[in-house]
Formats: sequence, C-alpha cells, structure tokens
Amino acid sequence: MSHYDLNHFVRELEARLPQAQDQLQAVQVVSGAMQKLLSNDYLLDPDFVRALRHGQTDNQVYHSPGLDFVVQVFGWQPGAETPIHDHETWGVMGIYAEELEIREYDLLPTGQAGQFDLNQKAHYRAGRGAISYLLSPQDEIHHISNPGPNYALSIHVYGNPIQNYHEFDLEKGRITRVGS
Ligand SMILES: [Fe+2]
Repeated sequence: MSHYDLNHFVRELEARLPQAQDQLQAVQVVSGAMQKLLSNDYLLDPDFVRALRHGQTDNQVYHSPGLDFVVQVFGWQPGAETPIHDHETWGVMGIYAEELEIREYDLLPTGQAGQFDLNQKAHYRAGRGAISYLLSPQDEIHHISNPGPNYALSIHVYGNPIQNYHEFDLEKGRITRVGS
C-alpha cells in the first residue's frame, strides 16, 4: 500500500514543475506523480468525500502560492456530465474511484464567425488509475460523464485556476466563452 499522499504530491509538483520547459513536460511531471498518488487506497478522508458528495465543501484541495497550479477533487453522481468544454490551461486528470467516460475533440472552424464543427478524436472509458491530460489550446476540448451506477471520484491538476473557458454547443455549432 502506498503512503504517498496529497502532501507528498504537491511537494513533488512544487519541486519539479519549475524545471518543466513546456506544457508537455509539465503534464509528464504531474502524470508521474499522479500515478503514485492514485495507488494510495486511503488518500481521501471519508468525511471529505461525504462533504463533497453533499456539496458541502469546495473541491479545491490545493492552490500553489508560487506556481499558481491547482489540485481539485471532483465527485460524479451517476449520470453526471459536463458540457463539451475547454479550460484555457493544461490539465491532468486521474481516476480515483469507479469509471468515467471521456470524449475528446478537435475544433474544425467553418469559416463563419462564431460557428464551428467538432471532430471526435477519442472516446473511451477510464477506470481507477487511468490518467489523461490536456494541452492548451490545441488539445483540450472534452466531455466527461459518469456512465456507471456509483459515485465516481477524480483528481485534477490545472496549470492555473480556471477563470475563463469555452463551452461548445454541438447542435447549434456555437461557442460560448464563460467566465470573467
Ligand atoms: Fe474539463
């Protein structure tokens, strides 16, 4: 059983992320550390998970004072899903409990202002221990849902707190910028 916990994780990221030369190196550092984190069966305090499940706590567990990256834990009720969206920053997601369904897209401009089409380039189910990453802006449009009957948990690291992002309405072919 691994004793590598969230404190070890953020200490490793604080030490190693400054050496990352670009987003790809950053997500590689985070993915390596995430692999160790996910192997800890006792990572999350049951009281925290209970509070998360009932919407009684923020999902953010760490915000780096110097590097600005954030660590968040997300809980997914059965049937929960996001819009198709991006983050305007790099990100790494690890599945900690149950399974999530992930779709990834490429943006296909139509030549008309505000109009788009999407090419779904990946569609897969990710179970406990699976790690995926996003690079901004070329490789980050995605949709996540919980297809199973149980509450799922995932751990996310983003390059900075997400203040602005886009939502993509596939039926209308419209992009909406969300945030400040
Ligand atoms: Fe996302």
